[in-house]
Amino acid sequence: MKVRDEETGPINHLLTSLTDLPSINVRSCSMQASGSATPSGKRNTLTVIDNRTGKQYEIPIEHETIKSTDLRQIKENADDFGMMTYDPAFMNTAACRSTITFIDGDKGILRYRGYPIEQLAEKCSYLEVAYLLINGELPTKAQLEEWTMNITTHTFVHENIKKFMDGFHYDAHPMGMFVSALAALSTFYPSAKHITEPAERTMTFYRLIGKVPTLAAFAYRHSVGMPYILPDNELSYAGNFLGMMFKVAEPQYHPNPVLERALDVLFILHADHEQNCSTSAMRGVGSSQVDPYSAAAAAAAALYGPLHGGANEAVLRMLDEIGSKEKIPAFIKDVKDGKGRLMGFGHRVYKNYDPRASIIKRLADQVFEVTGRNPKLDIALELERIALQDDYFIKRKLYPNVDFYSGLIYQAMRFPVDMFPVLFAIGRMSGWLAQWQEMLLDAEQKIARPRQVYLGHDNRDVTMLSQR
Ligand code: ACO
Repeated sequence: MKVRDEETGPINHLLTSLTDLPSINVRSCSMQASGSATPSGKRNTLTVIDNRTGKQYEIPIEHETIKSTDLRQIKENADDFGMMTYDPAFMNTAACRSTITFIDGDKGILRYRGYPIEQLAEKCSYLEVAYLLINGELPTKAQLEEWTMNITTHTFVHENIKKFMDGFHYDAHPMGMFVSALAALSTFYPSAKHITEPAERTMTFYRLIGKVPTLAAFAYRHSVGMPYILPDNELSYAGNFLGMMFKVAEPQYHPNPVLERALDVLFILHADHEQNCSTSAMRGVGSSQVDPYSAAAAAAAALYGPLHGGANEAVLRMLDEIGSKEKIPAFIKDVKDGKGRLMGFGHRVYKNYDPRASIIKRLADQVFEVTGRNPKLDIALELERIALQDDYFIKRKLYPNVDFYSGLIYQAMRFPVDMFPVLFAIGRMSGWLAQWQEMLLDAEQKIARPRQVYLGHDNRDVTMLSQR
């Protein structure tokens, strides 16, 4: 059956899933305030004709969306379930209303609570940004001092966490240890399950933001057989993490200020990115009202995958595999022939240069002045140059994402490759928590439970095993 959209315009993209419905005629639509007539006399509704029945439905439009449940009234027969939308991977479905992060993927814009990422990366510390994400406004000086003090005094973990870490095999991936340790934290703080109590949630913010660097560093130290280093509350958030990672026998660890700031900026850049895979996991798992440590473990597990937070690790492995600039054309050819992907390129939302990648590229220069140039940078720069001129990548709007250059900086700072997703998770914790709290306080949210289109067998009888 045909689909007719009489009013082309900015909301057309919202109708993608409707156009897949076989018997629906989307006849007219307009946009303004919900349900009411606009100054031009147009109604802010979508009129849908079901060509199976000839019935017409008027569906309100709000914030350029229609409610999927409004489609349920569309039925061929009275006892039908009603119309649904089909949207694998949530390509065109908003699962929440949010005030935290704004992305315009076509223009390459990223803002937290309205502030451009470029300004936050230049003018703020990670802890200021974490406060902003969770509380909605940048802190005053006094608020920041209190916030920093509360997080800093929650950086220690229970001694049993060390024993727990010791249980892992010597070559366990640090992200596996990190995910498990996050889940284990829930057993130390059982009162965190009282998620409706603001004071409990606040304690969780302090504890999770405070403890993730400690867990991350412990996972690393275990993997290299080094003793665990306890947090040093005299150091900054990033400086303390560097100390717990790399301190050897010196009585006081002094982080290099350039590297300390670079790491802090990387945490800022990774802090939130609206409804990505791991954040959706945090919200989805959190919607069951499980404690936040368990939800955060689920989010971290989602981040581990090579298409998400594991991509920066995959980029480094890819650059190693390429090995030299001369081999880039052959590698690009393989990618275009479908033999693998150019890791660190492409994004579900950005169809332009990822603004975080631009900041990281500049940051890399500062870091390399201290550490010396990472030899893989030349391969990465050449790879980017060639890809950005290639029709395959141009046509598909594939640009470097946040992970393309971040791994090079991490490696120059002596982080092993398998720690990269863990570093991502440290920064992302504040975003997960902000999104989790927003979900909890949103009266429209319920336990997340997608629908399915069942295409399996109709009812059939079981034959006995002996007769099959
Ligand atoms: N290299 C080569 N081709 C690519 C790449 C890539 N990195 N990314 C997408 N494409 C191609 C696809 O093959 C597809 O081509 P086709 O239309 O001929 O089939 C087209 O571009 C669209 O790709 P999709 O997979 O449909 O795009 P989607 O939005 O689902 O995927 C993703 C986004 C997962 C990020 C993808 O671009 C990718 O795999 N990139 C590499 C992994 C990566 O860097 N991930 C980090 C993302 S950022 C983050 O999580 C922090």
